[in-house]
Amino acid sequence: MTGDDPTHPETIDWGAFWADADDEDRESANAAAHHAVDLVPAFAAERGAPATVADVGCGGGALTFALADRYSDAEVVGYDAAASVLSESRERAAEQDASNVAFERGVLPDFDPGRQFDLVACCHTLEYVADSETALRSLYDAVAPGGDLVLTYTNDLGRAHYGRVLDDPPEEVDPQRYAERFGLVVDGESTLSYDAIHDALDTWPRSFWAVVDKPEERWMWRNHPLVWVPK
Ligand SMILES: C[S@@+](CC[C@H](N)C(=O)[O-])C[C@H]1O[C@@H](n2cnc3c(N)ncnc32)[C@H](O)[C@@H]1O
Repeated sequence: MTGDDPTHPETIDWGAFWADADDEDRESANAAAHHAVDLVPAFAAERGAPATVADVGCGGGALTFALADRYSDAEVVGYDAAASVLSESRERAAEQDASNVAFERGVLPDFDPGRQFDLVACCHTLEYVADSETALRSLYDAVAPGGDLVLTYTNDLGRAHYGRVLDDPPEEVDPQRYAERFGLVVDGESTLSYDAIHDALDTWPRSFWAVVDKPEERWMWRNHPLVWVPK
């Protein structure tokens, strides 16, 4: 669906983004494909295999499919605001005969799937949502008692990075497109911290690395921490 994407004008029109995305766009928006795709299933293995999983802001579904593949008895649902990318993922699931994965529309901050999951993941998406507090609460509401919320967020270091790119854009960056996409972060409206997550959920987030021992992966999480919150 393009033109009536509920994420626009808060951030870019993600429906249009995915409908028109070239290879470079897909590479930039499938962030989970690089690290989370291995790390989140490894986390789930340590915490106990989940029977139900939600991947919110699933984009191209790299993590959704990885979790469905690793936990073939689990029911895995990928949610995203962009109907266009959900259609692509449904086609892929049908082609792969992946019967334990589904894709549904779900829009933050008022995400309400009408059910709870053992594991709720939200990777590289909260930076596009202005009302982080409501978004965090709705994600946490979707976690079943005893389950976990796993999320990435952009912190002040990340904000400074995006600001530096905008101040002196490299040749391959279209400054206007970049400013539209990362505007909420650059303006500090969607940056988060341990304190902000605690204030929203009344529970401290925990370091992912206390559960998953992969120190070589930590470098990239300086600007985009990967944390979990038990329920
Ligand atoms: C950078 S991509 C990350 C995709 C995936 N989680 C990953 O890490 O590969 C951000 C995704 O969030 C979705 N999105 C943006 N705003 C959203 C919102 N308010 N609610 C739900 N999804 C949203 C976009 O359509 C996009 O697929």
